[in-house]
Amino acid sequence: MLNTETMEKDSARLEQVRSLFGSDVRLSEPFPGRPPLWIEPVEPELAQHIDAATAWVVNNRAAIEAALLSFGALFWRGFAVHRPEEFERFLSDFTPFSQGYVGGTSHRKAVTGKVMEATRADDHINIIMHQEMAYLPNTPRLLALYCNKAAEVGGETPIADMRGLMEALPQGFQDKLKAHGVRYIRNFRNEDTLNDWRADPSFNHHSWQYWFETTDRAEVERVMIERGSNVQWNEDGSLTIWTVLPGTAVHPKTGETLFFNQIYAMRQHRLTIGEEKIARIDAAYPNYLDKPNAAAFGNGEPLSEEDFLAMHTEMERREVAFCWEPGDVMLLDNKLTAHGRHPYKGQRDTQVMLFE
Ligand SMILES: [Fe+2]
Repeated sequence: MLNTETMEKDSARLEQVRSLFGSDVRLSEPFPGRPPLWIEPVEPELAQHIDAATAWVVNNRAAIEAALLSFGALFWRGFAVHRPEEFERFLSDFTPFSQGYVGGTSHRKAVTGKVMEATRADDHINIIMHQEMAYLPNTPRLLALYCNKAAEVGGETPIADMRGLMEALPQGFQDKLKAHGVRYIRNFRNEDTLNDWRADPSFNHHSWQYWFETTDRAEVERVMIERGSNVQWNEDGSLTIWTVLPGTAVHPKTGETLFFNQIYAMRQHRLTIGEEKIARIDAAYPNYLDKPNAAAFGNGEPLSEEDFLAMHTEMERREVAFCWEPGDVMLLDNKLTAHGRHPYKGQRDTQVMLFE
């Protein structure tokens, strides 16, 4: 993708990772100072045989981990990864996230082994920048994405460096986040309620029976309580679950305290979902806590317009995006780097794996 000759002098961190990886690959930094580290094969075997590509990952595991810490994300293009099974194989040196996606806010099904669909969110939806599963007490350390089929238009997975984000936010916002954490609320309707206006698919207000793939309330409770959630069955048989979690997390390897929550991602706003849609949603749910997904400070106070805009400006400033090509693989440190998804046209097929 990149012609390194046209770039300015390589950054110190790029020079540093070059000394860790051998000469079998070409490394570049498409967005200087930002993620990801871009990796392309020089050794033809890596482009031709999945066994060679997988062995390269195993042999370079220490370098990969070091690069993840400095770049926050790695991107492989041109390696011999052409099918979901090969994606799984390529990263088989990593330990799968034991809890999988149960309790997640995005509905997805398994593709093969530990590989899952990235999301079923409609093609016109702009998935706002987030850190995966930050609304749950246990989160994956790493997140890998694989492009099985690229969209015709759009469908990029934008990413953003989360280092320094907390410090860039208004002091009042930082203080509230530290003092109260974030409350995540999710509402599921009851499939058995007749003529429920929330069943209109445009509200994305799923029934708990659909979401948890069971009609057994005890099973839903077991799963959610195990994940640290509070569970409340409402009079009409609908379900409300909520959790209060810290707004920051300490990185397990560097010890840095990082912004780590989804108060921004879960706030629906005209700037992220459009005037028309927000007007319709606000009219349908006069109380924001009744929406399918809602987040507030831990004391129940919603994110103010001013704080949202500060967050939005900062996220936009940090965002980088590039088009997927079939066979591309991206590995993200889930605390250092946030991701989203741009709307698209065509048959996009992006798959995901989570790691401890
Ligand atoms: Fe995600």
